[in-house]
Amino acid sequence: MMCKKWLGSTVFLIIGLFTNALGAYVGVNIGTDVSNMPSASDVIAILKANQITHIRLYDADSHMLKALSNSGIDVMVGVLNEEVLGIGESASTAAAWINKNVAAYLPSTNITAIAVGSQVLTSIPNAASVLVSAMNNLHKALVASDLNFQVKISTPQSMDVIPRPFPPSTATFNSAWNSTIYQILQFLKNTKSFYMLNAYPYYGYVNGNGIFPIDYALFRSMPSVKQIVDPNTLFHYNSMFDAMVDATYYSIAAVNLSGIPIVVTESGWPWQGGANETDANLENAETYNNNLIRRVLNDTDKRPGPISEKNWGVFFTNGSTVYPLSFSGSSRLSTNSSGVFCVAKDDADSDKLQDGLNWACGQGQANCSAIQPGQPCYLPNNIKSHASYAFNDYYQRMHSVGGTCNFDGAATTTSKDPSYGSCIYAGSSNSSTSGRFMPPAAFGPVSPLGGSTTLPVSRIQFLISAAFLALFLL
Ligand SMILES: *[C@@H]1O[C@H](CO)[C@@H](O)[C@H](O)[C@H]1NC(C)=O
Ligand SMILES: *[C@@H]1O[C@H](CO)[C@@H](O)[C@H](O)[C@H]1NC(C)=O
Ligand SMILES: *[C@@H]1O[C@H](CO)[C@@H](O)[C@H](O)[C@H]1NC(C)=O
Ligand SMILES: *[C@@H]1O[C@H](CO)[C@@H](O)[C@H](O)[C@H]1NC(C)=O
Ligand SMILES: *[C@@H]1O[C@H](CO)[C@@H](O)[C@H](O)[C@H]1NC(C)=O
Ligand SMILES: *[C@@H]1O[C@H](CO)[C@@H](O)[C@H](O)[C@H]1NC(C)=O
Ligand SMILES: *[C@@H]1O[C@H](CO)[C@@H](O)[C@H](O)[C@H]1NC(C)=O
Ligand SMILES: *[C@@H]1O[C@H](CO)[C@@H](O)[C@H](O)[C@H]1NC(C)=O
Ligand SMILES: *[C@@H]1O[C@H](CO)[C@@H](O)[C@H](O)[C@H]1NC(C)=O
Repeated sequence: MMCKKWLGSTVFLIIGLFTNALGAYVGVNIGTDVSNMPSASDVIAILKANQITHIRLYDADSHMLKALSNSGIDVMVGVLNEEVLGIGESASTAAAWINKNVAAYLPSTNITAIAVGSQVLTSIPNAASVLVSAMNNLHKALVASDLNFQVKISTPQSMDVIPRPFPPSTATFNSAWNSTIYQILQFLKNTKSFYMLNAYPYYGYVNGNGIFPIDYALFRSMPSVKQIVDPNTLFHYNSMFDAMVDATYYSIAAVNLSGIPIVVTESGWPWQGGANETDANLENAETYNNNLIRRVLNDTDKRPGPISEKNWGVFFTNGSTVYPLSFSGSSRLSTNSSGVFCVAKDDADSDKLQDGLNWACGQGQANCSAIQPGQPCYLPNNIKSHASYAFNDYYQRMHSVGGTCNFDGAATTTSKDPSYGSCIYAGSSNSSTSGRFMPPAAFGPVSPLGGSTTLPVSRIQFLISAAFLALFLL
């Protein structure tokens, strides 16, 4: 199922830049431009509790960098867009930036990369002319401090620099950026750095206006007739994410500069949106991120814009997860209370509820003993109540391995704990089994964050956009 391009680059990664790395990893982006941000030491505790070994700071926050010292966590720091101009125009400003934000913390804080600006070409096009100069100035400052082997410099780009990403085989960078892109790529190649890609299938899906099935955007399996095929390579793409990464590889190849690895520096799916953004919801966000993590291991904050832009986060500022998320690709994230349940919809058709109930307690392997006569959840003895219990039990067990809360449209997720009296729903903070569901054995043991030997394609490096968002500023 892997495209040649992807595999080729994968091999490059193994023998190239990241030979010392664990292999694949999923990191977390942290923005500190959030009200109610937990203290730096609390953030580190949350990261450690979730076995996160790589993070990206959008800035170079001194509290975070101090707190990360001796944490064993690899850190990518960021030059803010408003700093790019000054650094591009002055080598001494660049040197001062490196001294203050990088050299001062190494080696105890393991800074491994600097992201220069954020989507500079598309968000502040008039700074494009100084971007390469800023990267060069920072690189020279690193060389002067003998840090250029440990710390790599790159600049995250959005998919917007590739106007027609599909089919991937014919994708090219926007020719308006020819000279800048070429210089950036040459810089990356010369300094053995990597291309930073922000890949959001959510936008590709929404902007496609119905061309692409949502399953394609969410990494859900699709029947082969619905798969998206590149007419030139006849390669079947199972996910838009893969197609975006390949489009980037082809675009780099089109300027005859190959051998530059790609690191996905941001991805994600908004879990809440405005009334016209119905696909920005909790279930899709959970599906996307869990499938992305599985995809990787197998093989921000107050942003302006629509409401969905503000709701990409994985953690609340208090450290609990917005939705259950498995950073290990199999077991659930160890959080005390996930807060998401799956229940029968109020207006669901009773035949569908019965079918769903039968399926959940049968093939779905939900534990339905609590809704048997005499058991705590038997009363009220009606189909909706029993279906809710069974749907939720199935969902809590299976969502980390792709189980969804759907049941032919009869189910919905809710953050309201449906438990009552002595009837305790799976996933409730009062449930003795909360947070300790095991995935089906068929998925095999998967060690946290890329240590697994059972997963064949596990060398691409990713960071999941999971800023500690200010979720309730809305
Ligand atoms: C810092 O990160 C690099 C890259 O992951 C790793 O090779 C190195 O061992 C780390 N250093 C420390 C002191 O953890
Ligand atoms: C960019 O490069 C392409 C291919 O090399 C060329 O066709 C195009 O004219 C160039 N565009 C500009 C603006 O230089
Ligand atoms: C890349 O190389 C090919 C073959 O050597 C050549 O035909 C093509 O013009 C080159 N493209 C650019 C953008 O230099
Ligand atoms: C949704 O509506 C908001 C304003 O109400 C608008 O800014 C946004 O572009 C709309 N989004 C879509 C996907 O139409
Ligand atoms: C990993 O990928 C292979 C091949 O695509 C697939 O068969 C397998 O189920 C995947 N494993 C997981 C844990 O997703
Ligand atoms: C964390 O914060 C969210 C949002 O404010 C809230 O819904 C949730 O109950 C909180 N969790 C804990 C454990 O306090
Ligand atoms: C989660 O539970 C553990 C014990 O299981 C406890 O030590 C920790 O304080 C709890 N965290 C929160 C945020 O409630
Ligand atoms: C099913 O749930 C009941 C409690 O409702 C529990 O006592 C029992 O051990 C569970 N069975 C399995 C196989 O998990
Ligand atoms: C959970 O247990 C606490 C105390 O044991 C109780 O106050 C609370 O109502 C319970 N919550 C649910 C949803 O049953």
